[in-house]
Amino acid sequence: MLDGRVALCAGAGRGVGAEVAKLMAAHGAKVVINDPGTSGSGEGSDGAPAQEIVDQIEAAGGDAMANYGSVAKFDDCLAMVHQARETFGGLHIVFNAAGILRDKMFHNMFPEDWQAVIDVHLTGHFNISRRPRAFSAMSGNAITVQPSSGSWRWHASSPWRMPRRVSPSTSSARRRTPG
Ligand SMILES: NC(=O)c1ccc[n+]([C@@H]2O[C@H](COP(=O)([O-])OP(=O)(O)OC[C@H]3O[C@@H](n4cnc5c(N)ncnc54)[C@H](O)[C@@H]3O)[C@@H](O)[C@H]2O)c1
Repeated sequence: MLDGRVALCAGAGRGVGAEVAKLMAAHGAKVVINDPGTSGSGEGSDGAPAQEIVDQIEAAGGDAMANYGSVAKFDDCLAMVHQARETFGGLHIVFNAAGILRDKMFHNMFPEDWQAVIDVHLTGHFNISRRPRAFSAMSGNAITVQPSSGSWRWHASSPWRMPRRVSPSTSSARRRTPG
C-alpha cells in the first residue's frame, strides 16, 4: 500500500508513534524514525528508543533510519526532512506523535512547564509541518498527521474546563433554600 513512499515519524521511539511507524514500514514505506528519547516530562536524551524501532523494522525486512532531533527545534525539523530526502529520495508522509507530560494543575504549573509543553505540542507541530507543507503546496503530494496531544488531560486540568455538574440532590437543596 505504501511502496515507494517515504514517511517521517516523529516521537516514534515509543508508544503510538512507534506502532504507526512499524505499520507504515510493514506496508512498504521507508521510514525516518525521529525520537530524542526524552523522559516522560521531556528531559534528557537517549538514542536507544529510536534505534530499537529501526532495528525492529529492519529485522522485519523494512527500511528505516534513526533521527534524534527535537520537534521543538525548527532547524532539527529541517534536518529531518533533509535526511528523508537525502537517504530515501523524497518525503510523502509526516506523522507527529512527539509528546511530553507536565502533569500539573494550572495553579501549580510553573512557566517553564507551560513553555516546555507548548514547545513540543504546539510549536513542534508547526516546525515539523512547515517544510513538508511547503513541498505539498508545490507538488500536492504530502500528507501530515498529528494526534490531538494529550487534550483529554488538558481538559481535566485546565482552568477553562466546563463547570462541575451539579447533582440533582444539590440543585434541589439549593432550590429549597430561601433567597
Ligand atoms: N497514549 C494515549 O492514550 C494518548 C491519548 C491522546 C493523545 N496522546 C498523545 O499522543 C502522543 C503520543 O503519545 P504516547 O502515549 O505514544 O507517548 P509516549 O510518551 O509513549 O511517546 C512519546 C514520544 O515522544 C518523544 N518526544 C518527546 N519530546 C520530543 C521532541 N521534542 N521531539 C521528538 N520526540 C519527542 C518521547 O521521547 C517519546 O518517545 C502524545 O502527544 C500524547 O499526548 C496519547
